[in-house]
Amino acid sequence: MSVQDRMGAAPKPTGPVSTIDYSERIPNNVDLASDRRLQRALEGWQPKFLEWWRDLGPQLPTQDVYLRTAIAVGRDGWAHFDHVPMEQYRWGIFLAEADPDRVVNFGKHKGEPAWQEVPGEYRSELMRLITVQGDTEPASVEQQRVLGGTAPSIYDLRNLFQVNVEEGRHLWAMVYLLHAYFGREGREEAEQLLKRNSGDIDAPRILGAFNEETTDWLQFFMFTYFTDRDGKYQLGTLKESAFDPLARTCEFMLKEEAHHMFVGTTGVQRVVERTAELMNEHGTDDVFEHGGIPLEVIQQYLNFQYSVSMDLFGSEQSTNVAAYYTGGLKGRWQETRRKDDHELKEAEYTIRTIRDGKFVEEPVPYLTALNLDLRDEYVADCENGVRRWNQALEDAGLEQRLSLPHEAFNRRVGNYSAHHVSPEGEILSADEWNARADKWLPSEETRAKVAALMVPEYELGKFAGWIAPPQTGINDQPVEFDYVRLAEEGLA
Ligand SMILES: [Fe+2]
Ligand SMILES: [Fe+2]
Repeated sequence: MSVQDRMGAAPKPTGPVSTIDYSERIPNNVDLASDRRLQRALEGWQPKFLEWWRDLGPQLPTQDVYLRTAIAVGRDGWAHFDHVPMEQYRWGIFLAEADPDRVVNFGKHKGEPAWQEVPGEYRSELMRLITVQGDTEPASVEQQRVLGGTAPSIYDLRNLFQVNVEEGRHLWAMVYLLHAYFGREGREEAEQLLKRNSGDIDAPRILGAFNEETTDWLQFFMFTYFTDRDGKYQLGTLKESAFDPLARTCEFMLKEEAHHMFVGTTGVQRVVERTAELMNEHGTDDVFEHGGIPLEVIQQYLNFQYSVSMDLFGSEQSTNVAAYYTGGLKGRWQETRRKDDHELKEAEYTIRTIRDGKFVEEPVPYLTALNLDLRDEYVADCENGVRRWNQALEDAGLEQRLSLPHEAFNRRVGNYSAHHVSPEGEILSADEWNARADKWLPSEETRAKVAALMVPEYELGKFAGWIAPPQTGINDQPVEFDYVRLAEEGLA
């Protein structure tokens, strides 16, 4: 487990941190009180957010939940844990500390002071980037809203709700930027963020993966592993932005995001552990009949979530992304650690595609291939979890292994979208694909079998039969701690 992934007790702050003002109706560290107009506009949006949360947020009635709330944004000591009624969670506006000397680190404005206002020439592009990011945040809350009814434990239920409230706060983070920097148009976009809904036929969320249903907890864990990780990489590019408020917002969001990926990594791992245990105990791969999820099915879920998350990176080649980079709007993952000129005018990048039934590689201008550059970073990161899950299989003495499917598998966006490719990277005809797709992706029938295992386990310290307990609890609390207190109606 990386330090980032671990969620321990908050250490005492070591340096000055900017604390968050909780006496305000909208907690913030941006001195909202000094800007009455902005404050009033956001206070006008707040009831709409709460209404959205009630209608499309977590549906399981609860009294309170042991949640982490940000209290300061400094490097250390920003999190506070307590039981709070979820609808009273303090969503607010928290930006990472400002660096008064920050400069633009890439593109044609490299070396100039970072922007505190939106330059007119980049206004529409910046608003688009913020809107697309903002759209994903509430989408995942909508996708996950009924999962509480089938939680495998109170511990897992708490983690689901923690992810949900933080995605709600990420929506706030983007709405703040829209309201504060983009005038009337920004306020209109902020309204739309609550009007588009995941899976809505007339007004869907902007990106495909955010309109897929999260049908069960295995998918939730895959989602937090693969799709939240896409979020991490997108935020990583915006964290480099020349537009300083966006950069600082994303930097703070990334701290929250780490927990979402912890939920995914450990969630899948615990499913794998339990499956391995049942395989050994019963001497069979088909553990469905013993109340577990077969490895083959775990692999199918992995194949699905990985491929739809790969699509979120967009086309391998894009002139938009070149313009975003050159303009300084969106950098590369860990831009400042890259050892090149950070302008990339002459540089090349090798992209992969299929031509005449074969995989080919070809060099293209680096600037146009930045989506792929980011996706390649993402893939390398995804491998880490798979290694960890395979370690669990090895520790259990099993030969089977999980793996990431080929990058061309099941793609709807980019160079591979017109092709059919197996998880092993075999290029297939449409007929061959159709004949075998049910082996690689969860069929309706398989999803139904998984769903049948999803019976709630609300007894403290107990876990549903398809998942192993975690090693430790949250914030040094025991695993059997009362992380969530259900409302009477929730128990009925
Ligand atoms: Fe998020
Ligand atoms: Fe997230």
